[in-house]
Amino acid sequence: MAMNYISDRLIEEVRVACDIVEIISDHLPLKKSGKNFKGLCPFHSEKTPSFVVSPEKQIFHCFGCGAGGNVYQFLMKSEGISFVDAVSHLAERQGIPIPKKSGDSGENDKRKRLYEINKLAADYFHKRLSESSEGEKARGYLKQRDIDGNTINRFLLGYAPLSWDHLLRYFVKKGVPPALLEKVGLIIAKERRDGYYDRFRDRIIFPIFNTQGMVIGFGGRIIDSSDQKGPKYLNSPETAIYKKGSNLYGLNLAKEIIRKEGFALIVEGYVDLIALSRHGIENVVSVSGTALTGRQVLLLRRYTDKAVIVFDADSAGRSAAEKGYDLLLERGMKVKVIALPGGSDPDSFIRKWGRDDFLKRIQNAVSFIEYMIERIAEEMNLSSLEGQVDGVNRILPFLSRIPNSVERDSYMSTIEEKMGISSNALLMELRKASLRQRKGVDLSYVPEEVKKVVAEQSLIQLMLMDNSNIRRIREYVSKENFEDHDLGQIASVLFDLLDKNEEISPRKVIDLLLETHQKEIVSRLVIDHIEYDNVDRAVDDCIKAVKRRDIRCEINTIKQQRKEAIEMGKLEEYRILQERYIQLRQEMRS
Ligand code: GTP
Ligand code: MN
Repeated sequence: MAMNYISDRLIEEVRVACDIVEIISDHLPLKKSGKNFKGLCPFHSEKTPSFVVSPEKQIFHCFGCGAGGNVYQFLMKSEGISFVDAVSHLAERQGIPIPKKSGDSGENDKRKRLYEINKLAADYFHKRLSESSEGEKARGYLKQRDIDGNTINRFLLGYAPLSWDHLLRYFVKKGVPPALLEKVGLIIAKERRDGYYDRFRDRIIFPIFNTQGMVIGFGGRIIDSSDQKGPKYLNSPETAIYKKGSNLYGLNLAKEIIRKEGFALIVEGYVDLIALSRHGIENVVSVSGTALTGRQVLLLRRYTDKAVIVFDADSAGRSAAEKGYDLLLERGMKVKVIALPGGSDPDSFIRKWGRDDFLKRIQNAVSFIEYMIERIAEEMNLSSLEGQVDGVNRILPFLSRIPNSVERDSYMSTIEEKMGISSNALLMELRKASLRQRKGVDLSYVPEEVKKVVAEQSLIQLMLMDNSNIRRIREYVSKENFEDHDLGQIASVLFDLLDKNEEISPRKVIDLLLETHQKEIVSRLVIDHIEYDNVDRAVDDCIKAVKRRDIRCEINTIKQQRKEAIEMGKLEEYRILQERYIQLRQEMRS
């Protein structure tokens, strides 16, 4: 590949845009295992899987051979390519431009041209809808669907006239070469003859924007399904700037509102999102056509960690919601669901029942597990013992994924009430399941020397687990407190990011560390995740264990100085040393 200039910003931009589970799945089969995925390690030969991928932290680690890192280390190792090539490769896959170091910015200019063409086309379609006589039927259709002029403008909706080359001729007149139009998927080359024809004909046009508000593609809806052929919705093909599943419809308009509201609604269709917006509900994104992808979840997570899936209660809608729920939860989102009455989607619901009813539904949104409990209670025959066993088996995976024990207990009483299965029986099953998971280390019985090493490691682990732990640990511990050089380096990267007020994530830390084995320590500590009963206490214990060694050193020094002070008759100095000595002894004991 050409010599590309890879900036830190690009490295980060590409890294956050990729979903490691999707990328590794292209190379080897992965199976769900608790919070993570497991597979046979591609880097050494093995018969039982010890290769683990964390969707939440976007990191992989093999407990067999020790290989680990973020998406870049995986690609470098599995393809045998350099870091720069790994970044370029993934950037291309995501449609992210790579600036060239040398003077020519050819590639970038080309992409800019594609965005411009799309914008011109969007404006063209928009004008055809608002102004032309051919647009009348389309205008009538939108009106009948309750989409008003403001909304049409806000989403830059348009109309592609019934013609084979309307758009083509418009652009040719402007001097735009057809080859470029083909590149953005607006026209299609004729099969048997020279020439092209318009992709979108006699359709309502929904321009698709990226988060920066640039037009990357289009969706086109048939106006009257009775007299038209073809699919109800037609989308742009994949192009250099439009990658399916990498984008969420409406996010460009919704992102600030999502931040403000603290959560996002996820709907299925363009029109659903537009209808909600028309009723003043704007913290909405739509997946529009494809099933929700990991990349889309990671994109959304930049703005919020709370999502509400709105779905149609029919079985297709339900299974889509179930899959979406897993993807969201795996990547660290808190998820609730709203099931609309069978047959209605957000658009038809809000038009029939109005904004207040919809808002009420949002307020009453339940966690997915509550929804599942009700469903199982409805669908399964729980009066028989067999039915109860089946019911427990269905609900257990959902229950055991809830990290908070208080929350878990409250669901158990719901299950007892709704499903008639005793909490005791459930508790037994849960214990069995959790025995297979490791518990946090209790440091009180570990010898001092070992304690120190374990504590240093645990501190790093706790910091990688949650950024609030970094803040707390930073107050008491500095890089110098780490005896282990590698752990000290990792701590120093974490502290640096905190001081610079930058976003902190393990996968970013991996990029900032220089040594491969340090990257592998991070991936191991992240994935070899320990369920602490009480995280705050674990943090305190580890800080104490790490500090204790330093305190003991200081005590020894003070004892020496105290002795000297007495010998020299310096009573005032002795008094000060003695005070400090007592203070340190107390710290040791606490
Ligand atoms: P309306 O019928 O206009 O209300 O659209 P809808 O959003 O209610 O349609 P539906 O629930 O059938 O589909 C949801 C989403 O799936 C749509 O917004 C489209 O993005 C996508 N979709 C539906 N039909 C097709 C199709 O035939 N082809 C493609 N590519 N996508 C489709
Ligand atoms: Mn609809």
